[in-house]
Amino acid sequence: MTLLEGSIGVEDLVLLEPLEQESLIKNLQLRYENREIYTYIGNVLVSVNPYQQLPIYGPEFIARYWDHTFYELKPHVYALANVAYQSLRDQDQDQCILITGESGAGKTEASKLVMTYVAAVCGEGERVNSVKEQLLQSNPVLEAFGNAKTIRNNNSSRFGKYMDIEFDFKGSPLGGVITNYLLEKSRVVKHFEGERNFHIFYQLLAGADPQLLKALKLERDTDGYAYLNPGASRVDGMDDTANFKTLQSAMTVIGFSKEEIRQVLEVVALVLKLGNVELADEFQANGIPASGIRDGRGIQEIGEMVGLNSVELERALCSRTVETAKEKVVTALNVVQAQYARDALAKNVYSRLFNWLVNRINESIEVGTGEKRKVMGVLDIYGFEILEGIPWVKVDYFDNGIICNLIEHNQQGILAMLDEECLRPGVVSDSTFLAKLNQVFSKHGHYESKVTQNAQHQYDHSMGLSCFRICHYAGKVTYNVNSFIDKNNDLLFRDLSQAMWKAQHPLLRSLFPEGDPKQASLKRPPTAGVQFKGSVAILMKNLYSKKPNYIRCIKPNEHQQRGEFSSELVAVQARYLGLLENVRVRRAGYAYRQTYESFLERYRLLSRSTWPRWDGGDREGVEKVLGELSVSSEELAFGKTKIFIRSPKTLFYLEDQRRLRIQQLATLIQKVYRGWRCRIHYQLMRKSQILISSWFRGNMQKKRYGKMKASALLIQAFVRGWKARKNYRKYFRSGAALTLSNFIYKSIARKFLLGLKNDLPSTNVLDRRWPAAPYKYFNTANHELQKLFYQWKCKKFRDQLSPKQVEVLREKLCASELFKGKKSSYPQSVPIPFHGDYIGLQGNPKLQKLKGREEGPVLVAETVMKVNRGNGKTSSRILLLTKGHVIISDTKNSQAKTVIALNGVVGVSVTSFKDGLFSLHLSEISSVGSKGDFLLVSEHVIELLTKMYQAVLDATQRQLPVTVTEEFSVRFKESSLAVKVIQGPGGGGNGKLSCKKKGSRCLEVTVQ
Ligand SMILES: Nc1ncnc2c1ncn2[C@@H]1O[C@H](COP(=O)(O)OP(=O)(O)O)[C@@H](O)[C@H]1O
Ligand SMILES: [Mg+2]
Repeated sequence: MTLLEGSIGVEDLVLLEPLEQESLIKNLQLRYENREIYTYIGNVLVSVNPYQQLPIYGPEFIARYWDHTFYELKPHVYALANVAYQSLRDQDQDQCILITGESGAGKTEASKLVMTYVAAVCGEGERVNSVKEQLLQSNPVLEAFGNAKTIRNNNSSRFGKYMDIEFDFKGSPLGGVITNYLLEKSRVVKHFEGERNFHIFYQLLAGADPQLLKALKLERDTDGYAYLNPGASRVDGMDDTANFKTLQSAMTVIGFSKEEIRQVLEVVALVLKLGNVELADEFQANGIPASGIRDGRGIQEIGEMVGLNSVELERALCSRTVETAKEKVVTALNVVQAQYARDALAKNVYSRLFNWLVNRINESIEVGTGEKRKVMGVLDIYGFEILEGIPWVKVDYFDNGIICNLIEHNQQGILAMLDEECLRPGVVSDSTFLAKLNQVFSKHGHYESKVTQNAQHQYDHSMGLSCFRICHYAGKVTYNVNSFIDKNNDLLFRDLSQAMWKAQHPLLRSLFPEGDPKQASLKRPPTAGVQFKGSVAILMKNLYSKKPNYIRCIKPNEHQQRGEFSSELVAVQARYLGLLENVRVRRAGYAYRQTYESFLERYRLLSRSTWPRWDGGDREGVEKVLGELSVSSEELAFGKTKIFIRSPKTLFYLEDQRRLRIQQLATLIQKVYRGWRCRIHYQLMRKSQILISSWFRGNMQKKRYGKMKASALLIQAFVRGWKARKNYRKYFRSGAALTLSNFIYKSIARKFLLGLKNDLPSTNVLDRRWPAAPYKYFNTANHELQKLFYQWKCKKFRDQLSPKQVEVLREKLCASELFKGKKSSYPQSVPIPFHGDYIGLQGNPKLQKLKGREEGPVLVAETVMKVNRGNGKTSSRILLLTKGHVIISDTKNSQAKTVIALNGVVGVSVTSFKDGLFSLHLSEISSVGSKGDFLLVSEHVIELLTKMYQAVLDATQRQLPVTVTEEFSVRFKESSLAVKVIQGPGGGGNGKLSCKKKGSRCLEVTVQ
């Protein structure tokens, strides 16, 4: 969030318009009511005490403020601490944080917040952490001994504190130095109704365990102690018991030994017991009043505890030794004086103890010499209202010269007067001091008292007689001079310090070094005023050397009430703190001023020439930016190192522009960043995709290759195996089987064939025997062999035949062709050789003459029966067959009756029976005498017809048709006769014929 955006009221009073006291308070109120307790005046932080825990602290907020610059977030004490710490670390600038405000306004809280912030951000490490821890733990210790409940603040710091934290060049804490101012020691012996003594007394009584209480000879009940106001021992929201524990552990952390802690508590107990020492009136012999201890028990216990002679203590309390150069006079003290001495002792013991504590803490957190350090000082000093009556200079950064002079001037200042009065011989009292002031400052414009008022005839009932008033820059403060002198003197009678020094208790003894007689000097110790002035001077010098950071604390109400905002009360404080002036000074005509560098840093994004890079000077850069924004020149003034802007409006305008621009830039950055992110993402995805796919492809190819290789190997193996098997097949067992079987086949075949050869059947052609094949698979071969053998046998047989035999067989063959299977008498004819001549032709020349000489030998000569075609009666004839003719002659006269040329024979018919009947069919032309066809019966019909067939063939190259039939016709004269042959009841067994004429045209022949 920026300076102006969404803020409640204005976050920086510099921007307030109109700028008046009223609006300023209103603005603070508005913010306070909205729980915005912090407001800026430039770089000054105004803090209004919320009196409640707000959720704006803690590590998360620390981290947030650590990451942002001053104006970027809401006003916060962290922001101020951050600026201080960062410039300390980065710019090597010592810093101081000045926290001012009334008691209860929140100074101490603010200082603690600053310290926690710095501790949180200033690095880590074992050593660093222990230093941090010691620095932080100094708080509970100092608060236990230096804080008390007042009416306005339950935990009011009753001392001023300045703490230097020292850092090394890296910004890590090395240690620190604590300086304390003006402990309100009067509180030890006296305090207002409703207030309390320092916390430690209550914490000790409430928190100590019984043994410790016993050892310290204390009672738990606070009512038993005179220095503790009865009835106000409890504070709401404050747990003394727990705080005592915290105190003890804090002391341990810081480095207090057990022994030291015990001694400290003993001294505290001593103070409490001192309060209970009652003094009683006594009178000296000369009647002069003196004093004595009423009840010796208390003082006895003190003596025992710190190793002190109680008689001596009593003497120190009740008498006073005045020593001059020449003599030593002891005077008795009356009761009042003795009580004063007792209280003075208690106050002194306590305040010295407090100083000792601070020094002891410093010893622990002290930084070794030699290291270059940077320092951050935190000043937490309470307001004007207590101060033990001693006027207190407000540490202020604006010119308060007159007042400072009035108070501080070396000769003419109020403090100087007080010192002078204290040292002046003669009767000295508070009223003589006031009279002197009235005299010296009667004309001083900033000094007022009853006397000066009277002189000016003013009437002011608020002004007491023993009072004076200083008109401070921001308001009037009234001081009461009562006991000024006493307090300034703050003398402790030497008797007391000497008595203390004599104590055996090491701590107590060390608190009173001036008690050592050897060190005793007659010189008066410096007054409180002088001491304080000195320390303030040192402090001022210290602060001036550092860069100041201001926190102005405001108390919104007197009742420690949350949410309550008393405008009047705040107005008073605002006046004291000079807030309005502060704002005015800030503005000084210009609402806003800033070094060129930081202005440019904040607004350079408004111009294209200065954003994102600007190489020129800061001032030129600022001019460029403002020039481009066309801010009117009246609004601006260019200083040496700073730019001044007259009215808040312009600043608002700048801020608006800046906000817009930041939005644009944010969008731009977002855009670029998103683009970048997407691109990166895309590239990453792409890379991954490529990687994945390359792996995938690679893997796929690898697999494929592997498969291919495996397949190739497999194929190769098969081929090689196959080749090898081919080459080695012969050696295989399976091959052996084949070989063996072949061999066996062969041997069986050989055996079979040899067997056949040695045991062939006879060569007789008629012998068809042949051995059967011993195995089935020889069947075909055996059959072939049988055929071959048979053919060979036949051939052999044929080869040994004579030509004559061949001729005979040829005739037989012809007969077979003609009649086999056709005629029943054929089988009987086969074994009978063909004689041809059955009538003894050789011896019968007559018959021989029948044939022509040229005709060659007679082929057949036999006696045949001629069937008469007219009646069927038979008559014998001789038939001669020659090469060219068939001659039929009469048996008796051997005269040729008929000669038939063979070419005239056109066919022959025979029956299928056993008979010898046959018919010669003659051609019509050749038929001699035209007697027609012949019907003859021969006993050798097969032979006759066979030879006739051959003769016809030889003679005429014609095949004589031989018809085997049971019915045929025979030409007879001009007509023809049908011949029908039937078988007789005897089945034609002997071939005897009987012819019977059936009608004229039919002849029936029966074969008996
Ligand atoms: N920022 C704060 N948040 C909450 N409470 C606070 C804050 N500042 C102060 N207080 C309350 O106001 C009381 C007084 O504050 P303190 O710092 O002791 O005042 P101072 O030191 O100015 O006298 C504290 O005890 C605390 O209760
Ligand atoms: Mg305080």
